[in-house]
Amino acid sequence: MLETLKPQPADKILALMQAFREDPRADKIDLGVGVYKDAEGRTPVMRAVKAAEKKLWEEEQTKSYTGLAGDPAYGEAMRGLILGDAVAADRVSAAATPGGTGAIRQGLELIRLAAPGAKVWLSAPTWPNHPSIVRYLGMEMAEYRYFDEASRGVDFLGMIGDLQAIAEGDVVLLHGCCHNPTGANLTLEQWGQVADLLAAKKAIPFIDIAYQGFGDGLDADAAGTRLIAARLPEVLIAASCSKNFGIYRERTGILMAIAPEAGMKPVTQGTLAFLNRQNYSFPPDHGARLVTMILNDPGLRADWMAELEEVRTGMLALRKQLADELRQRSNSDRFDFIAHHRGMFSRIGASPEQVEAMRRDNGIYMVGDSRMNIAGLNAKTVPILAQAIVDAGV
Ligand code: LMR
Repeated sequence: MLETLKPQPADKILALMQAFREDPRADKIDLGVGVYKDAEGRTPVMRAVKAAEKKLWEEEQTKSYTGLAGDPAYGEAMRGLILGDAVAADRVSAAATPGGTGAIRQGLELIRLAAPGAKVWLSAPTWPNHPSIVRYLGMEMAEYRYFDEASRGVDFLGMIGDLQAIAEGDVVLLHGCCHNPTGANLTLEQWGQVADLLAAKKAIPFIDIAYQGFGDGLDADAAGTRLIAARLPEVLIAASCSKNFGIYRERTGILMAIAPEAGMKPVTQGTLAFLNRQNYSFPPDHGARLVTMILNDPGLRADWMAELEEVRTGMLALRKQLADELRQRSNSDRFDFIAHHRGMFSRIGASPEQVEAMRRDNGIYMVGDSRMNIAGLNAKTVPILAQAIVDAGV
């Protein structure tokens, strides 16, 4: 059997992470994988997470199984964090998943079960694992334009134009905030237009929100998701706690399914639990428990929010510094978009050859489509990157 296997294509982002680790140069700069780093290049355990872990170690009495959909308290806490009071709680089903990727996978499994022929629309470009999983599941897929290479902003006319072709029951995958890989985001007004269009077409929004708190703040980053949830009868949401709680390896995510009416919740919730059972039985609990403790304890929550805010404003400061350096060194304002983008990433518009040249000549690692992770920089490396971008002729 095993002799029939063929080598699988390497994931570009994870292959880059490996290549960086193997590069012996001491002054190399990692702008690849989407992991937050502080000015010293560390990915710290957040203070509130450490405190919650200590408390948990002291208080936890059992490691017996939780529910198939995870601890309902986690679902409640995450519903509050993401949706606020945008939608009645009795319409929202939720299941803990292994990370945001697990939530995407389980969401797609749910769609396949409920509407086997539904086409999934993805932004062009999007996080490479989106099309990879959709393809792996044998689902139909289409793309809508999203990024304007010239302005490095959202190609909203292109997006709306392409979404005219969606059929009733199609699924449209949207990035809740901090678009990965481009860094270009919809305004709230544009979210409203997307909501109107999806409602008119009777399409299902599937929102991937993996960077809440990294863009304009916890509430502002959820505003588009809340608007969609308030206006559309059915919505799926895949969320990750990897980034905003810094618990990447704990694999902490959630899939939420908003039904048109409360009466549908028992079957929807039961289906989420069933799908968990088919794939891995019980979802990981440790990270979810920490998140629940933090969100439900006013002191821990305040400290977590304060540290997350430091992370967010730190990335904004790096964006501004880089845009300023590039303005000076290129004698133009063509890189100002870096200060306007939000989240961890910006796609800077370098060709694959220019990206390769920066890796070869400067030890600067960014994804081949020229997505760079802003959090991989610090005040000292920003001028080095700015010079490398100009030298590469971007
Ligand atoms: C990224 O886009 O770099 C992150 O979401 C990490 C990953 O799994 O690809």
